[in-house]
Amino acid sequence: MKFFIDTANLAQIQEANDLGILDGVTTNPSLMAKEGIKGHDAIMAHYKTICEMVDGPVSAEVLSTSFAEIVEEGKKLAAIHPNIVVKVPMIKDGIKAIKWFTDNGIKTNCTLVFSAGQAILAAKAGATFVSPFIGRIDDSSWDGVQLIEQIVNIYNSQGYMTEVLAASIRNPLHIVRCAEAGADVCTCPLSSILGLLKHPLTDLGLEQFLKDAKSMQ
Ligand code: G3P
Repeated sequence: MKFFIDTANLAQIQEANDLGILDGVTTNPSLMAKEGIKGHDAIMAHYKTICEMVDGPVSAEVLSTSFAEIVEEGKKLAAIHPNIVVKVPMIKDGIKAIKWFTDNGIKTNCTLVFSAGQAILAAKAGATFVSPFIGRIDDSSWDGVQLIEQIVNIYNSQGYMTEVLAASIRNPLHIVRCAEAGADVCTCPLSSILGLLKHPLTDLGLEQFLKDAKSMQ
């Protein structure tokens, strides 16, 4: 399973990248706004900076909702850097645009996916990635990881090439369960990635080893 970081924060991207285990980055308009990025030029420059920091796919989301506008915006985003993946919402014009991007060699990430039916449509349109939002599903008392399992099974049995990118990750256990469910990618906040490191027996064991090592000096 590939690890992407789900943020537009450059310091957090750098910290995850320095671990040596980062495969890519996803952003969305809310994450970009959180960093105080304003205006077309600043948005484009920020995506370029991220692409120069991380050697892997970087999802940049369109802000348009009509076919023609999504295509125009997506072409501009894709021109920023070869690693840009155009993130398109799961709406009717979005599916049309994903098919257009597929036919024109532009990679896509179909976002705001909450059902297996939506994931089938995204795959049929040729999306590079599909992003089911598992945390938001859990928030409404459904099982987000179960949706990942269902989509992985459908894609395997149908031979769809779209990669299942588990999004809206809220904790380290989500990452473990997505790996078990066969997700191709997990896009996580830095806190969830770092949470994977934690175990009290590791801390206690290391403390003892260091203590014993001192006694040998
Ligand atoms: O990037 C999309 C997704 O990961 C959003 O997560 O936490 O806002 O549901 P969240």
